[in-house]
Amino acid sequence: MLLQKLIAIITITAVSTVGFMIQNASAEDEKRKVNPETDKAYEHVIAPILASRCTGCHGANKAKGKFRLHTKEEILKSETVVGGKLEESTLIERIMLPDDDEDVMPPEGKDRLSAEQKKIINWWIAEGASFDKKISELNVPGDLATIIAGLIYSKPKEVVITKAFNLPDLPQPADAGAVGAIDKAGVLIMQLAQDTKYLSANAINVAKSFNDAQVKLLIPVKTHLTWLDVSRSGITDQSASDVGQLSMLTKLHLENTSITDQMLQHVGKLSNLEYLNVYGTKVTDAGLEHLKGLKKLKKLYVWQTGVTEAGANKLKEAIPGLDVNMGWKQPEKEDKPEEPKKG
Ligand code: HEC
Repeated sequence: MLLQKLIAIITITAVSTVGFMIQNASAEDEKRKVNPETDKAYEHVIAPILASRCTGCHGANKAKGKFRLHTKEEILKSETVVGGKLEESTLIERIMLPDDDEDVMPPEGKDRLSAEQKKIINWWIAEGASFDKKISELNVPGDLATIIAGLIYSKPKEVVITKAFNLPDLPQPADAGAVGAIDKAGVLIMQLAQDTKYLSANAINVAKSFNDAQVKLLIPVKTHLTWLDVSRSGITDQSASDVGQLSMLTKLHLENTSITDQMLQHVGKLSNLEYLNVYGTKVTDAGLEHLKGLKKLKKLYVWQTGVTEAGANKLKEAIPGLDVNMGWKQPEKEDKPEEPKKG
């Protein structure tokens, strides 16, 4: 099916540009079939299309035409979508123009929407452009049901990237000498995205040799470093106070390392943190106690650790909206991963 292929291509593109960012060992990142009974029309069908074709220009990083389409709030603000009224929705007007019209969206030179994608967007708006309803709660004509049944869902990657842009703009790039030293140590250090001076650092290629001494190299770029992946590396609790200084981190991968609750004591100071992965470590419920002040934390991965459901629930009470991923054990998750991934 064409749409399926398109989505596969899009996913590959996303992987190649931000490849290192998406190796979170998480079942939810995996591709799966759309399920009309449990999946939402906007989140699981519409948002991925917009993410693949539109939000590069109308999204977190750019606002061409002075509007964005990457969240519910931004779509509503854009006034390009009027639920139930195709003829009043400028979004429909623009995507339905002939391919050679100079106002057609996406514009010339960019990958166009397929006939199926146009059909899906038209359907969603005609059905009221709901952001909350499940597919099965809408009226789904037979031909659309067939298209939807063939869709593959994988979480749009841009959603993750946008997180970093909640941070204030940086006037200066990071110190080139400090970046050079990190690079020389074999750590992949790069700008998080084109339009930002924030940096991501990934030690995956040197995981075996990366240790507490190298963590010290990161401190001179702490004002710029917002993503850090030291999973599977030799990092230990000895770096805890150094890690605790990396205050702009929004995303931290510590999975499969020898860190313990002592590390979390310092991680608990990283008040910008939105994503933390400590899967396959020795952390326990006592360690989670230190994380209670991380009010921006949205995702925490603790499978194959000493963390219990009771401990996870306690933290969830302290941080509204937090999703604690305990792997197969997680009881109340709606769309349970089909197969637990083996670490
Ligand atoms: C390569 C960048 C780019 C891509 C990709 C892109 N757009 Fe645009 N879009 C623009 C620019 C630039 C404008 C402002 C100029 C204009 O109105 O043509 C615009 C304008 C629009 C407008 C007019 C808004 C208004 O005020 O009336 C709509 C609607 C729109 N885009 C929707 C989309 C949709 C939906 C997609 C994806 C299917 C998309 N665009 C993809 C660059 C892009």
